[in-house]
Amino acid sequence: SVEAVIFDLDGVITDTAAYHYEAWKELGESIGIAIDEEFNEQLKGVSRMESLERLLRHGNRQDDFTEQEKEKLATRKNEQYKRLIKRVTPDDILPGIKQLLVDIRQDGIKIGMASASKNAFEVVGSLKIAEYFDYIVDSSTVSKGKPDPEIFLKAAEALQVPSSRCIGVEDAEAGIEAIQGAGMFAVGVGKPQLLGKADYLVENTSLLSWPEIKKRYHHS
Ligand code: G6P
Ligand code: MG
Repeated sequence: SVEAVIFDLDGVITDTAAYHYEAWKELGESIGIAIDEEFNEQLKGVSRMESLERLLRHGNRQDDFTEQEKEKLATRKNEQYKRLIKRVTPDDILPGIKQLLVDIRQDGIKIGMASASKNAFEVVGSLKIAEYFDYIVDSSTVSKGKPDPEIFLKAAEALQVPSSRCIGVEDAEAGIEAIQGAGMFAVGVGKPQLLGKADYLVENTSLLSWPEIKKRYHHS
């Protein structure tokens, strides 16, 4: 039976995915690259430097910057993102998430976090939900980003739970692939056109319920 639930952060627990988008959009504009929400889907769950590479390729400017210049661009995006997350408070926890964390805990199930963001600890602190997590992966220790399963496997290992007894929750296509690659049951939050591969999919977080997720896991 299920022993752990491992959550993504941005776009699942809180809507910081919108802030990542805003910061990339602004950086893109400053170097003449326009992005829209459709392209942004390819940045979700993807590390900072890989997101920058994708942005530059999108604008056909992948050969225009030195490594040092790219570092500077990524830093600029992060500085803007950090400005935006200063306003994050516990009120920004997405609907249904707090109850879900409480219900999972009450069931004696472990909770982990597998976010690619180096800002994850700060956001968790601002949301005041650190107490719910038995383990949060430090993304700076992860060598292969999502869709590689590494980050989810790391979380499971730290929680001392076999993959087959873990459930992962994600809003990104790369994230669903990472969960399934780790041999876990994947709960998706988002649109079926994008997250159709999830083992169980809901359109938004308010539809997440622990009894229902558990039932789906057991019937899988
Ligand atoms: C998450 C977000 C991505 C972001 C990545 C790295 O996976 O979904 O949009 O690029 O984290 O975040 P960071 O805060 O380290 O730049
Ligand atoms: Mg996400």
